[in-house]
Amino acid sequence: MSTCVCLVSLLLLLSGHEASRRYEDDFYYGTFPDGFLWSTATAAYQVEGAWNEDGKGPSIWDVYVREPGKIVGGATGDVSCDSYHNYREDVQLLKTLGVSHYRFSISWPRVMPYGNGTVINQSGLDYYNRLINELLANGIQPMVTMYHWDLPEAIEEDGGWLNGDIVDLFTGYAKLCFKTFGDRVKFWITFNEPLVVAVGGYGDGGKAPGLHQPGTYPYIVAHNIIKSHASTYRLYDEEFRALQKGQVGITLSMVYNQPKDPNSAADRDAAERASQFEHGWFAHPITVNGEYPDVMRSQVDMKSKEEGLTTSRLPHFTDDEKRRINGTADFLGLNYYTSNLASPQASPFNPPSYHSDQDVLLEQDPKWPKSGSSWLRYTPKGARAVLNWLKVTYKNMPIYVTENGVSDNNGSLHDFYRVNYYRDYLDEMLKAVRLDGCNLRGYTSWSLMDNFEWARGYSEKFGLHYVNFSDPARPRIPKDSAKFIAQVIADNGFKPPNSEEHSL
Ligand code: GAL
Repeated sequence: MSTCVCLVSLLLLLSGHEASRRYEDDFYYGTFPDGFLWSTATAAYQVEGAWNEDGKGPSIWDVYVREPGKIVGGATGDVSCDSYHNYREDVQLLKTLGVSHYRFSISWPRVMPYGNGTVINQSGLDYYNRLINELLANGIQPMVTMYHWDLPEAIEEDGGWLNGDIVDLFTGYAKLCFKTFGDRVKFWITFNEPLVVAVGGYGDGGKAPGLHQPGTYPYIVAHNIIKSHASTYRLYDEEFRALQKGQVGITLSMVYNQPKDPNSAADRDAAERASQFEHGWFAHPITVNGEYPDVMRSQVDMKSKEEGLTTSRLPHFTDDEKRRINGTADFLGLNYYTSNLASPQASPFNPPSYHSDQDVLLEQDPKWPKSGSSWLRYTPKGARAVLNWLKVTYKNMPIYVTENGVSDNNGSLHDFYRVNYYRDYLDEMLKAVRLDGCNLRGYTSWSLMDNFEWARGYSEKFGLHYVNFSDPARPRIPKDSAKFIAQVIADNGFKPPNSEEHSL
């Protein structure tokens, strides 16, 4: 018996040892191409605070966080990191990191309290002017997201993303942004993760505005977001591009959907279906042909028919809209965090939902190391796989990683697991660039600092910097991961340990 136990332990030890050795042997030393963009990110509602200061209007998040039971610990973004007042300190943190860019978002209701042109809030514009000028004075380029989920509440009261009028309203807001900041901002992201807006906000209801019509609303919302994105891109082309010479794209989330059994054709199809529903939903119309992916069209049409509906729950674009939508991204922004295992699962259409429309079962391998967030497990190999999927699916168009990171629950300063995560994910991305020829142009870590993590409040922390949320001054302290990222940026990748050029 004891011999047996010993043997098993020895085998386990050896296999564990083998696994880590193999990963180590696999480590690729090298640098990213010259001019590679290095950035870190935040979003307005997650860091700014000052929720009702200086003429800002309420957003759907200001309202949602006040509904009982929605946010862990009843937390709000009312103050959060108070970046509205502490932005100069944020810029100094960025400078120490050595980033070339800073990704932040503009709060639509801070500059247009009602979401339309009736009132323009000059104090709000002044805040972003101060931030942008401070960045530039410190040699950091702004990378600006126009919509990171904080819709003006006044627009939601008229139906929000369900009401087609929003296309013109969003374009009006985008015009104000280009006009006011476009002389200095050359990197624009129209939307952050529209899938979360559509499914989280209007389908499952776990995000603001918290509506729950999972079979219909997500498709209507996404339809209006795609039209708003395209209209903004065309506006830039027609009125601003020649003079301002910037680029405009969109940021999409992507989990790496790995076939559960790579040898099973059914699992491979399920994985592809899930990726098309997730990423292709937006990237296909915007970069391929103005239409939803074929597999999405056939799945949702089929399910709608089975329900006895005469028209599909997935709307159609008109021919004119297709022409306007196709070719409206100078780049795709990729938010990559984790992987799933995909296999087919026949789903009943009742009740209909964006999830059941896919006929896919998505799960995670319990052996994958966990993080502070239930949905996020350490899966570095997926980073390379996703970049290769994008390369093949979208003709190797320019990609920027606009978010990547990992959470814990305590905000520890000695965050060795975050260092490991960044090291291994970044190395897989480096392989994608150097060994596979993927057109990855830049990398953004999420996040500059611990902040308001949506429905999870302050219970999940992704920061390179710790923030003490009980101190009114909100001091920021660098974690070990901040020092690690600064080193990778200084080296533009991973120099061999014995390299003389190693900068430290
Ligand atoms: C993304 C989102 C960020 C951040 C991150 C970590 O989906 O864009 O705002 O919350 O996830 O969960």
